[in-house]
Amino acid sequence: QLQIIFTVVINTAQQLLYFCFVYLGTFGSQILAFSGRTDTKYARLLKQFPQMHSVTVCAQLQFDSNYIGVSTIFSYSIPSFINEFQLRANIVHEEQIQLALLVHGVHSPYSQAMENDGRWHHICVRWTRRGGSWAIAVDGSIVASGDHLYLSDDIGQDGVFIVGQEQDTFGGSFKQDESFIGNITQLHIWNRALDSSEIQALVEDCSVPQAGLFFQWNISALQVEPTVQVYKVFSQCKGNMNTSEFCMGAHFCRFSFAF
Ligand SMILES: *[C@@H]1O[C@H](CO)[C@@H](O)[C@H](O)[C@H]1NC(C)=O
Ligand SMILES: *[C@@H]1O[C@H](CO)[C@@H](O)[C@H](O)[C@H]1NC(C)=O
Ligand SMILES: *[C@@H]1O[C@H](CO)[C@@H](O)[C@H](O)[C@H]1NC(C)=O
Repeated sequence: QLQIIFTVVINTAQQLLYFCFVYLGTFGSQILAFSGRTDTKYARLLKQFPQMHSVTVCAQLQFDSNYIGVSTIFSYSIPSFINEFQLRANIVHEEQIQLALLVHGVHSPYSQAMENDGRWHHICVRWTRRGGSWAIAVDGSIVASGDHLYLSDDIGQDGVFIVGQEQDTFGGSFKQDESFIGNITQLHIWNRALDSSEIQALVEDCSVPQAGLFFQWNISALQVEPTVQVYKVFSQCKGNMNTSEFCMGAHFCRFSFAF
């Protein structure tokens, strides 16, 4: 009798795990983990960029709170200009993480953006040539903005977009002391400026605006350097699905794995 109970328990556990793997496969999200400062870890977006009059880049980031200094979240270079478009963080001991946008060599001031708490944060940056106006939003709220950040031209086409490293030459010459250390997922790029309500909706219910969406998070569309780890985790983002169902499933599976 004991054996029958045992078999039933094992079978149930197997089914639970199977369900959770399928669940993770369907609704999981892939994250890229950059551990430690290196001049080698990067991910390159395999897409041909158009010329962009406006642009918005959003991503979910988890900074490693053990590191201080400059951290390049992404850099975009074009053949005729290396520092075409970048998002950089500056991490000072026991202070908030500061973020700055760089467009065609023009650097916005570093602005206090979020606590260096090792948690996931949702970050969006947008820029438009009209007035050179720019903004940085963290967890759905604008934390810094301004104008006249380069208004002479569009962001150039056919560039190289690198996650995790600053480029000193077109597509290369990375520097260890400017590398990103932490996790990144759900990077999306639009070739228009998202408005504040769209950014808020993206954070709150993960609805990814389709208009002008140029790149949707997709590991297969990235060349990932082999020492960058790829994890599959329960989505930080629920996508377009029913939130309460998702949460029930995720808690249930977390419990099953722990069990
Ligand atoms: C990145 O994610 C992995 C997998 O979830 C986790 O083990 C690691 O601690 C995270 N790194 C940071 C810096 O939070
Ligand atoms: C992800 O990228 C690959 C390679 O570019 C492409 O074949 C695939 O259709 C993309 N998947 C989605 C869901 O966009
Ligand atoms: C979401 O799922 C819950 C639980 O299954 C259900 O009660 C609710 O009506 C659903 N909401 C929508 C918008 O489908």
